[in-house]
Amino acid sequence: MSSFHRWAGFLLLVFFSTGAVGAEDRTGYYGYGSPATKAEIAGWDIDIRPDGTGLPAGSGSVEDGEMLYEEKCAECHGSFGEGVGRFPILAGGEGTLTDARPTKTVGSFWAHTSTLWDYIRRTMPFMMPESLGDDEVYALTAYVLYLNDLVEEEFVLSYTNFTSVELPNIGNFIPDPRPDTHNTRCMEKCKDPGDIAIISSVLPAKASLVNKWQLEVPAEVLPGQVIYNQYCSICHKSGLGGAPILGDSKDWKNRAAAGMPHMKQRARNGFAGEKGAMPPKGGFINLSDEAVDEAVDFMVGANQ
Ligand code: HEC
Ligand code: HEC
Repeated sequence: MSSFHRWAGFLLLVFFSTGAVGAEDRTGYYGYGSPATKAEIAGWDIDIRPDGTGLPAGSGSVEDGEMLYEEKCAECHGSFGEGVGRFPILAGGEGTLTDARPTKTVGSFWAHTSTLWDYIRRTMPFMMPESLGDDEVYALTAYVLYLNDLVEEEFVLSYTNFTSVELPNIGNFIPDPRPDTHNTRCMEKCKDPGDIAIISSVLPAKASLVNKWQLEVPAEVLPGQVIYNQYCSICHKSGLGGAPILGDSKDWKNRAAAGMPHMKQRARNGFAGEKGAMPPKGGFINLSDEAVDEAVDFMVGANQ
């Protein structure tokens, strides 16, 4: 039996069985089930926020963590967090994030200590999730921080000093400035999927399609390099879609021969050239003309 039939069968069963007691007497829209109790919700609602919200009172030292770690974690993650076999590495990897194969660990990649605390409590040890006491989780978190050289050997992590430990990579997590789209799902007279062209947000199929991916961005003028980094580098750093690469002075020299005003015009309005399509303002049409000009000044200047 297909899973759909099984599922439909289950629904029917529910329908008939609730029908028997009278659906109108039961809680909820479908007439079955009951609201979750506070205690039930509390059992699921165990997430810890970066600011420590959700943490239970308690504490644990690096020293206690070491013993627990050896007993419950090292067989998979290695005594120094180096990872046994294919089990995850928990420590090290600093400075590898731009490598072709970055080593992403708590120390090199993670943003928040709270994620570590939450992760350990929720999922580890792998075979016995949620088996650790709160103080044990504090101690193990402290020890993983210690393995990453982020705290001293004598450190005791507690409810009160929790937010004092910042993970080094936090600064590289930046909010995505694009707005939510709030699209509503089409339920009738919808487009034939065959007619819909999917356009990559970085690689336009045709110049005529580019104004479809207008994004809202603040219009204030920023220095050229900042604008370049945020809005232009996605294509111009790597040459995506045929974009002239920043630093490829030969390519830029040929283009600059037509004059700066011409280039700025093209950057503002977009154009389809021999190599690909440059969307108006790189697709960020809310950027002001002046901001685009500043980015072009920076880009051309960077090639001289
Ligand atoms: C039986 C092997 C095993 C044991 C024992 C174990 N882990 Fe894990 N651990 C894993 C696996 C597998 C993953 C990856 C899970 C996944 O990605 O879904 C993981 C992931 C993690 C991660 C996240 C790593 C990352 O960068 O994504 C942390 C932190 C962690 N474990 C801590 C611990 C701690 C602390 C203990 C001891 C209390 C422990 N683990 C015990 C197997 C184990
Ligand atoms: C979606 C990718 C993409 C983004 C984002 C993008 N560009 Fe381009 N850009 C291109 C492509 C492709 C070309 C080259 C087209 C050709 O010559 O065939 C180009 C060419 C240019 C040129 C050369 C114009 C000339 O006269 O040859 C300038 C200047 C330029 N872009 C500025 C910018 C600025 C400023 C931004 C950010 C505000 C930006 N680009 C963002 C894809 C992009």
